[in-house]
Amino acid sequence: MGSALAEGLRNASWCAPEELCVSVRRAESIPALAERLEGVAISVGLPTEGVDASTGAVICVKPDYAESVATQLAAAKFTRVLSVVAGLSCARLEAAFPGPVAVVRSMPNTPVLIGRGVTAIAGGSRVTSDDLAWAESILSAVGTVVRVTERQIDAVTGLSGPMPAYLYLVIEALIEAGVHQGLAHDVSRQLVVDSFVGSALLLAETGLSPEELRAQVTSPGGTTAAGLRVLESRAVRSAFLETVAAAAERSRQMGR
Ligand SMILES: NC(=O)c1ccc[n+]([C@@H]2O[C@H](COP(=O)([O-])OP(=O)(O)OC[C@H]3O[C@@H](n4cnc5c(N)ncnc54)[C@H](OP(=O)(O)O)[C@@H]3O)[C@@H](O)[C@H]2O)c1
Repeated sequence: MGSALAEGLRNASWCAPEELCVSVRRAESIPALAERLEGVAISVGLPTEGVDASTGAVICVKPDYAESVATQLAAAKFTRVLSVVAGLSCARLEAAFPGPVAVVRSMPNTPVLIGRGVTAIAGGSRVTSDDLAWAESILSAVGTVVRVTERQIDAVTGLSGPMPAYLYLVIEALIEAGVHQGLAHDVSRQLVVDSFVGSALLLAETGLSPEELRAQVTSPGGTTAAGLRVLESRAVRSAFLETVAAAAERSRQMGR
């Protein structure tokens, strides 16, 4: 996640490559990163030089390590932090700093790896509009950004965070359904994946609602209507409502 962000920032010329620094834990992580991030300084541990009040940090480590990294950032005198750590509240990060710190929390999803993610951001108790604009400009290098309140981050963690997984499950099932109808696996895969990408683009580019687009392909008494009737009878809408609610609730539990 962190290397995708660094790559996005570098490729978007967000700043000069030499103004970026990526910190890793193990020296063996450096060569592969150096290949992707030409001109960017990569160090084991935090940089010891060049940090001043204008330097921002992005924490992008597994949740178990996040508070210890925050303590290191505090010791290195960082005062502006963007966290990409799932389930860690702004208050907990703020508590790792002895003085005032601006914390912006975010929840991205995996399409940021190809610059097409969507990320929600929320500010902690001391953020200014400048801090939020700074965080938004960073995450815009890898997709789109939505601003929410911190209370809404759990809802985002149930919805767009895991949404790639929800959709991949649907895609897997549809590919299998095509195979059951006699299509070769690669043919079924192409039909499903291209339909999925095309439908998403149609939705994004026409600005029509999903209901309108669905109505366009549903003739009265036709084949699509016959298929949709089965989905409705199996309560697929309700399954998605409960799916998102369960993931959001799990996020609330993890944040306690
Ligand atoms: N919503 C989503 O879909 C989503 C997806 C992925 C991640 N996330 C969030 O993004 C965060 C990062 O996840 P990830 O999968 O990218 O993690 P990861 O693969 O473990 O990468 C963490 C990176 O941080 C480096 N690092 C630097 N200092 C560290 C320290 N003191 N302790 C531990 N690591 C240190 C690690 O260095 P080394 O390489 O040397 O170990 C590694 O390169 C997580 O908190 C996760 O919740 C969200």
